[in-house]
Amino acid sequence: MGSALVKGFARGDGETRQVVIARDLERMQARLEGAPVVIVTEATAPEVLDCDAVLLGVKPQVLREIASELAPLCAGRAVISVAAGVDCAFLRHALPEATTIIRALPNLAVAKGAGLTAMCAVADPDSPRKLADQCKVDALFAPAGGSAWLDNEADLDVATAISGSALAFYFSFTEALAAAGRAAGLDAELAGRFAVQTLVGAGAMAETLEQVTALKHAVTSKGGTTAAGRAILEGEHGLGPLLQDAVDAAIARARQL
Ligand SMILES: NC(=O)c1ccc[n+]([C@@H]2O[C@H](COP(=O)([O-])OP(=O)(O)OC[C@H]3O[C@@H](n4cnc5c(N)ncnc54)[C@H](OP(=O)(O)O)[C@@H]3O)[C@@H](O)[C@H]2O)c1
Repeated sequence: MGSALVKGFARGDGETRQVVIARDLERMQARLEGAPVVIVTEATAPEVLDCDAVLLGVKPQVLREIASELAPLCAGRAVISVAAGVDCAFLRHALPEATTIIRALPNLAVAKGAGLTAMCAVADPDSPRKLADQCKVDALFAPAGGSAWLDNEADLDVATAISGSALAFYFSFTEALAAAGRAAGLDAELAGRFAVQTLVGAGAMAETLEQVTALKHAVTSKGGTTAAGRAILEGEHGLGPLLQDAVDAAIARARQL
């Protein structure tokens, strides 16, 4: 996830200087595929000195183990954690001198500049830095697809379901569409190409939910093929209840983590 974010941030105007702290220089170079960043192997490297924000990209269990070791690195800086399930209270306690603690829930589409990242921030009460840190983070995430701030940390679990996990839901839908095409007799390779390209086309056309609904109606002729398919998808046992169950399951899992 960290590499995808670095690539997304690097899509910007080049104003943002990124320093990646990695355990293995060569492995990180290979992972970042030439993204214009400085890679160092020590958190105390001089290149890190003038950074004003730290993004933590390790797994949740690793973050819980090493958070207190990160306190000196995070002091006086905004901290963005992408770790699922590691809450602001834990981070604030472990990183007492961070200016603002931000939890972010990105998805891998950030690398393509197309992932809207859910955000939640806490600062010390009355911290003058909170707004400034949020603005900086907005600017950082803009080339990756943007940011959306939530007032309530618990809503991050919902955002995770309908944004993070939902990337996989769209892929599941696309796989199922391809499989349905194959089952109905289409060549397997062609069924896959049609299903994937239709996802790409839908993504290219979609902007707002209102527009998506309008487009759906625009491509449906009364009594036609799309109307026949939609009657199943939007029926009593169709996508609505199925997705509600999928989203509820993802939210429940997020709350267990
Ligand atoms: N994957 C997603 O789609 C997604 C979406 C939203 C949020 N997230 C969050 O992103 C975080 C990372 O997930 P991921 O799937 O990207 O995991 P990952 O591919 O395993 O990446 C974890 C990174 O942490 C580094 N690391 C591990 N242990 C470390 C340690 N003790 N000290 C310093 N660095 C250490 C690893 O370095 P090495 O390469 O040296 O092992 C690696 O670069 C998680 O907290 C997850 O909740 C992931």
